[in-house]
Amino acid sequence: MCGIVGYVGRSNDSTALEVVMEGLARLEYRGYDSAGVALVDGDHVETRKKSGKLANLTAELEAHPLAGSTTAIGHTRWATHGGPTDANAHPHRGGRDGKLALIHNGIIENFHALRQGLLADGVEFSSETDTEVVAHLVAAAYDERGDLTEAMRAVVADLEGAFTLLAIHADQPGVVVGARRNSPLVVGLGDDANYLGSDVAAFIGYTRHALELAQDQIVTITPDGATVINFDGTPAEGTAYEVTWDAAAAEKGGYATFMEKEIHDQPHAVADTLLGRTDASGRLVLDELRISEEQLEAVDRITIVACGTAAYAGMVAKYAIEHWTRIPVEVALAHEFRYCDPIVSERTLVVSISQSGETMDTLMAVKHARSLGALTISVCNTHGSTIPRESDAVLYTHAGPEIAVASTKAFLAQITACYVLGLYLAQLRGGSFADDAQSVMKELGEVPAKIETLLGRMDRVKEIARFMADTRAVLFLGRHVGYPIALEGALKLKELAYIHAEGFAAGELKHGPIALIEPGQPVFVIVPSPTAEHGLHGKVVSNIQEIRARGARTLVIAEEGDESVVPFADEVISVPATSQLLAPLLTVVPLQVFALWLSTAKGLDVDQPRNLAKSVTVE
Ligand code: M6R
Repeated sequence: MCGIVGYVGRSNDSTALEVVMEGLARLEYRGYDSAGVALVDGDHVETRKKSGKLANLTAELEAHPLAGSTTAIGHTRWATHGGPTDANAHPHRGGRDGKLALIHNGIIENFHALRQGLLADGVEFSSETDTEVVAHLVAAAYDERGDLTEAMRAVVADLEGAFTLLAIHADQPGVVVGARRNSPLVVGLGDDANYLGSDVAAFIGYTRHALELAQDQIVTITPDGATVINFDGTPAEGTAYEVTWDAAAAEKGGYATFMEKEIHDQPHAVADTLLGRTDASGRLVLDELRISEEQLEAVDRITIVACGTAAYAGMVAKYAIEHWTRIPVEVALAHEFRYCDPIVSERTLVVSISQSGETMDTLMAVKHARSLGALTISVCNTHGSTIPRESDAVLYTHAGPEIAVASTKAFLAQITACYVLGLYLAQLRGGSFADDAQSVMKELGEVPAKIETLLGRMDRVKEIARFMADTRAVLFLGRHVGYPIALEGALKLKELAYIHAEGFAAGELKHGPIALIEPGQPVFVIVPSPTAEHGLHGKVVSNIQEIRARGARTLVIAEEGDESVVPFADEVISVPATSQLLAPLLTVVPLQVFALWLSTAKGLDVDQPRNLAKSVTVE
């Protein structure tokens, strides 16, 4: 959940600190409770750290500047052990001479026992963190071995839990050592300088050449290159790759917030995720999956594992995949999956969905599924991340970097990738929907332009959000694929505007939730297309009448030209027409815009809402 940056170069000047601070600015979305930097300064390491946002650290550095250096590390924190105070902020120094500085992402599960051992040896602690324990252990190991890589190797053997660690030592300038287990770390390869980061955003301003590390590996960077070994000391090699986006993609591009920019990126996110997935004849080709057609044809059950917004993308996918393939699909919250004794066989396909590819709950669900013999596919937006590595295959979404904590464009890209997967399976199985796959792909290809049109009509939604700045609770209703969109609308509002918000399946109303309706209660209703199967449209219009009769303020999202909702709606938000299963790619957009502007109207931090972090890398 924390952001980690490491840099080593040749010039003994301000470059190291500048690179690390720029990396922290790009990684701040990962955690923003406190931030700190350390660099080698002659015969010692110097640190500066401050609780609160990165701006506080910047002010601290202006008040107490650091000397030039070739070697620096930096950290932005989401607190786990110990509150977000200056003392608990990373880096932590280790050893009696304080020559080592270390930063950490993750949780050291056996830190208490290790700390007791150090206390017994007379070590004094200046923080409550599990990280400081590791700093002292690595410092002691360095004193014995005289080499930072070897010291790190000796210590990681005793650590339990998930961690990325970076360390520098005053006696070994020009070296940064990193280690990872179940927590992200990528290497950036530059000219005369090399980088480490929780993700490539840390160094995207300097290089697009990256190296992916496997589990349980240690990397040592110097200005000359990067050396990788396994925790057991055997030599290893990272997997080199090129980052496909540049620094501009990780900037706001003229918008006030990343979230607003990312909402506007959505037509591209969908279009890019569709790119290259059909051949000249329009047939779906997913060679990248590297799973044999025989294996996929044998699948008799699909389980989707994910958390938060990604799980709602999975719920949308369930309706589509079951409809097209007739394979039963179950959606499990990843953190529940492992503990519910899941029914999994070698004919079960477990599809994980994750923007970051680092969500620990999802990663653990994938590992559990594999241990039970399932075939695993990761739908993921982040190259070089852990979940794709730990899966049998990956279907990348191409949303580009998503920086705002609230997920928007990744959600649309996830739904799109799941549609592609569902249509591919339908095509393979040759059922009645195999022939339809091409026409659905064609219709999907028209969606980006429809999102663009919709985004051009959001002024009224923005106004509604402003008027509703004092609202205390909002309800969201939907049916069929509109149900997960209702859940997503509620989640966006909770996380961004700190408003109590609930999403319901509209059919469930009369089974309890209708008791919540009182005069003036705002309720968003996602209405299916009048052409939807099984008369669903009429049923939802009846639901609107029922809540309106009880005083609800109805904010209705309906297909353009659907006049039947007008008499019962306080506001109608029209979305371009599309077939029922694809409608979520459009109906969610006004809800994202609503949450963005309500949060803005309340004067809140849209991109970094309180208590949250972009990737949840602890369980
Ligand atoms: O990186 P992931 O897609 O695995 O993240 C899953 C959730 O943590 C994430 O979608 C979260 O719910 C978002 N903050 C919602 O906007």
